Amino acid sequence: MKKSAYPNLFKPLTVKGLRLKNRITMAPLYLGYAADGGRISPLLLYHYTLMAQGGAALVMVENASITAAGSGSPRTIRCDHNRYLSGLEKLAAAIKSQKSRAGLQINHAGRFAYVADPVAPSAVTTFKRTPRALTQKEIITIARQFANAAVRVQKAGFDLVELHGGTGYLLSQFVSPRTNKRSDEYGGALSNRIRFPLEVLKRVKDAVGDFPVGYRFLADEWLPDGLQVKESVVLARALAENGIAYISTMAGTYESFFLPEVVQRSKNPGYMVSLAAAVKKQVSVPVIAAGRISTPARAESILNSQKADLIGLARPLWVDPQWPQKARRGQERTIVRCSPKCNACMELVMQGQPAFCPRWSHEKRAAYRELFR
Ligand SMILES: Cc1cc2nc3c(=O)[nH]c(=O)nc-3n(C[C@H](O)[C@H](O)[C@H](O)COP(=O)(O)O)c2cc1C
Ligand code: SF4
Repeated sequence: MKKSAYPNLFKPLTVKGLRLKNRITMAPLYLGYAADGGRISPLLLYHYTLMAQGGAALVMVENASITAAGSGSPRTIRCDHNRYLSGLEKLAAAIKSQKSRAGLQINHAGRFAYVADPVAPSAVTTFKRTPRALTQKEIITIARQFANAAVRVQKAGFDLVELHGGTGYLLSQFVSPRTNKRSDEYGGALSNRIRFPLEVLKRVKDAVGDFPVGYRFLADEWLPDGLQVKESVVLARALAENGIAYISTMAGTYESFFLPEVVQRSKNPGYMVSLAAAVKKQVSVPVIAAGRISTPARAESILNSQKADLIGLARPLWVDPQWPQKARRGQERTIVRCSPKCNACMELVMQGQPAFCPRWSHEKRAAYRELFR
């Protein structure tokens, strides 16, 4: 048999007892495809079946709300009540039917929630909205809501659950010195700011037993007064010491994504890999790197140089779900690539619209549009 050009990329890895057939994972990507109200739609089932069909070892489904008060949009998947269970079961089954592992990311959007009265660690104004600071009682309630949502993820048949600690949502709002100005035991010193995510992890783990729990990890806010990697690695170490299954690194928040220097940086291939590498140096659990890892050669080199253990593909897999198959078969030249000049998917979802990629064929766009309701 011909030797693979990408031996590391197609090497299996076991994460907390869960065998992944290769190192390719889909990084979470919200595209506005859930039904209005957050139920699982025919389009979501179609979309995630496609994402799994191409051979990724793990498909991590986009963020799902643990409470209506923390939902990011009307089309954010909901996981805050048992009435959503049957839809979630179908979604997990659709992904697993393609021999891919299925994960669901759970989230509270905090100050970015799509509600009239958002909450946050502190009343820090963002985009002209000032959230209300959470009371300690509410903080405990939210930690319980994370645990209840994680139990639903487990019951629905997913293989793992991921806590969304990225993008400037609630968990990361506690860690950030910019958005956490509290004077109680949840604020001030870094050891206090990381308390809430660690409490959430503990409650979730107590509720789901040995079910794997991963973490989407904000390594750097890319804001002058924001969270920086020298601080965030302290949380990474604490998560690893407290039983996290893996750490999936990312950088930036809605406050930095559109800054000219961040827009420019985000066009570079592998633009967040150095942060994954910085985290990996500090922990022994698997680390996922994402961010414009467009080619199998780049993915292989990241693994080979031990900058990460797993590769996260969000837009690259959405543009071309056959990315893993094509890499395995030596057809990498035929991979349809996400254009660094384009930001259409992010802009569309920010405007509350579903995203369809301009790089797709006419037929593919028609198939997605047909299913969108
Ligand atoms: C439109 C859009 C939606 C996203 N939704 C999520 C999400 O729900 N959860 C999350 O952790 N990251 C989300 N991300 C971040 C991606 O997972 C990923 O880190 C980023 O797109 C860079 O990787 P890529 O170049 O492979 O797309 C989103 C990114 C985009 C562009
Ligand atoms: S080409 Fe544009 S719309 Fe398509 S994935 Fe890339 S950034 Fe998103």
